[in-house]
Parts: sequence; structure tokens; C-alpha cells
Amino acid sequence: MRKAPNFNRLAGAYRWMERLTFGPWLSRCRFAFLDELRASRNALVIGDGDGRFTARLLKENPSVLVDALDSSRNMLRALLDNAGIRSSRIRVHLADARLWKPQVLALDLIATHFFLDCLTTKEVAALAKRLRVSARPDTRWVVSEFAIPKGWFGWLVARPLITALYFAFFLLTGLSVFRLPNHRKALNEAGFALAQQRTWLGGLLVSELWKVRPPAQDAQP
Ligand SMILES: C[S@@+](CC[C@H](N)C(=O)[O-])C[C@H]1O[C@@H](n2cnc3c(N)ncnc32)[C@H](O)[C@@H]1O
Repeated sequence: MRKAPNFNRLAGAYRWMERLTFGPWLSRCRFAFLDELRASRNALVIGDGDGRFTARLLKENPSVLVDALDSSRNMLRALLDNAGIRSSRIRVHLADARLWKPQVLALDLIATHFFLDCLTTKEVAALAKRLRVSARPDTRWVVSEFAIPKGWFGWLVARPLITALYFAFFLLTGLSVFRLPNHRKALNEAGFALAQQRTWLGGLLVSELWKVRPPAQDAQP
């Protein structure tokens, strides 16, 4: 198995690196469906980095308990710091998401913001299948990701930009994935169905809300 990337060195600077490159856009993506998540009680947040989504979720939803999973010790520390007094509602798990087995049965929220792009399509598929086992019929999965839209903008802007980002993360963290996974295929095949989608910056960024597909409905191609 590929070595997990090491984001420890980036934990302190991550927020500022993001502000300098994408301004407010990644945060808009992360928070796009917060209103829909107010009823969630047991959330699994994977690869939330310094934890800005987790902090906001805890603030907006006073009943939610969060399991935060990350392979970076420093990112998990930053996540707890960012949550402040609300960190008492977080349980952290320092682990590689590709190997971790959820202990919380009855998860009603899964959140992965700019995390699935650290995995291959095969790895996302395996993760989604494992998470589906712990999901309930009302579980939602919020995803934020980069995307390459069709047309000239995709070819001339999005594709080179994403290639450059992967190269930067390879140098900074040792990430050894170089292309976006097909997370839609992986989630779909694991039994989730895309319920809502918003795009930003001409389709370079997407926010998605997935739901569990009732077993009676066949997997869509
Ligand atoms: C690109 S950062 C995204 C951070 C944050 N979610 C955001 O919205 O910006 C990826 C995060 O996933 C974590 N990560 C990467 N690969 C991982 C793996 N295999 N298992 C667990 N965490 C991983 C990194 O440590 C980092 O915190």
C-alpha cells in the first residue's frame, strides 16, 4: 500500500496557504450544505485538516458528536484547537482512512472536504463500501472537491491548475496520487446517491450532498 502523505508540516500554515491561493472559495464549498446538517447527531469527518469545517459544524449544531479521523497528528491538534470549548464533543482518531474501521454504528453524517483527492478511485471505492456498512438510511455524506469541467476552461485552466496542485502536494507532503479520483462512481457503486450539487469558479470546485440509496433501487451507471 502507498505510504500516506504527511501533512504535519503544513498544519500551521494551511489556512494561510489556502487564503493566498483560493481566497474564500474553498470555505464556501465546505459550508455549502451546513443548513442541511443541523439534525445530524453522529458525524464522521475525515481529513478535515485544521478543522475549520468541524469547528463550524459544532457551532451550528449543538447536539452533534464528531469523530475526526486524520493521518496527521498536527492537523488533529489544530482541529481540536480550532474547536475550542466545543472540542469536548470531538473524538479524534489518528489513522490512515484506508485502513480504519468505523466504530460508530449509526453514523448520520460523513464529511470529506478536499480529502478524497488524496486517494485513488479504488481507495475511495473501498472506503465508501466500508462506510456504507455504518450508515443509516438517513445518512448524508458531504463532499467538497476539485473538478475538471468540460470545455476550454477545463482543458486550459482547471487541468493545469490541478496538476500543479498535485505536484506542490507531492513536494510538500509526499502525496503520491496525481489525478482526481472518480469519487462519484465510487460513491454511487457503494450505495450512495447524489442528492444536491453546487459548483463554484466555473466548475473548478464542487460541493455535493449524497444520501444513502434505498436498497430497492439498482446502482446507477
Ligand atoms: C488536502 S488536506 C484537506 C484538509 C481540509 N479537509 C480542507 O478542507 O482543506 C487533506 C487532509 O487529509 C489528511 N489525509 C490525507 N491522506 C489521508 C489518509 N490516507 N488517511 C487519513 N487522513 C489523510 C491529511 O492529513 C489532511 O489533513
